[in-house]
Amino acid sequence: MGGLWACHLHQADHPVTLILKDAAAEESFLRASTIKVDREQGTIENHFPATLAERISADDLTVDKISLLVTTKAYDTLTALQSISHILTSYSVVVIMQNGMGQHELVHQAFPHLPVMTAITSQGAYSKAPFHLVHAGHGDTWLGRLADQEQMVAKRQAADLLALNIPAFWDEDIASRMWVKLAVNCVINGLTVVRECRNGEILATELHSRIIRLCDELELVLAEVLSGSATPNLYDEVTRIAAATSNNISSMRQDVLKGTGTELDYINGYLCSEALRRNIDVPEHRALLHELRELVPS
Ligand code: PAF
Repeated sequence: MGGLWACHLHQADHPVTLILKDAAAEESFLRASTIKVDREQGTIENHFPATLAERISADDLTVDKISLLVTTKAYDTLTALQSISHILTSYSVVVIMQNGMGQHELVHQAFPHLPVMTAITSQGAYSKAPFHLVHAGHGDTWLGRLADQEQMVAKRQAADLLALNIPAFWDEDIASRMWVKLAVNCVINGLTVVRECRNGEILATELHSRIIRLCDELELVLAEVLSGSATPNLYDEVTRIAAATSNNISSMRQDVLKGTGTELDYINGYLCSEALRRNIDVPEHRALLHELRELVPS
């Protein structure tokens, strides 16, 4: 997702620097030398600089105010920001575009003066080869402020991202959207991992009552955390997204298949701890988390 947004920013003439996480990523970028994006209209190649976090210095940047789009996995967010803390100032804008919840609070605690925003996207992209992406699905992206920033100020800071050739909108109530996304991820990602299946296969009849119980519990949690904001029917939302992405392998299952870390603590784990903190009983989710913990390396 980072590569896709970097290309859109680059095409809109914004100076883009890709910050890579380790020497292996840098070596692979040097070999590729560009980011290629396959679209229906053909392949486009984008040339812009890339650097390692530890090597980046404020002098390398051609702008005095940086906007940082964080597209790491949720569990790498804080480390990623700490690795470039020497270039962050209270004028920097940080936009976290990931699955999961909980990482935003960690960032806010570590960098209380940094304006942190969140972005939720239903754009679909996958990697065909290192730094060669396929822009597979078009969808909307929603941005919103997280902490106690003023709406208009935050919206202005996100203006560059809202003006790209990719549908992106400002949401004054991004928290509701984040919770609905978390809820959908808890069910689809969780069940696709325990059943070792693609997204659409969770719609099988034998999982029907389990999905209903999971969604009923999620509605109790959402009613409490969103105190009054209207939320969609979660069963309809989960089944709609499972059907729309039926051939996809969920991100958590992909992580399990690759043997890398997963976002379990920021998805199902976060939901269960928030429920516990608020005294809401979620036995079906606790059971799912327990099953996932047996299968998924933390
Ligand atoms: O994490 C994912 O894979 C996606 O957010 C979703 C919606 C479950 C579709 O695969």
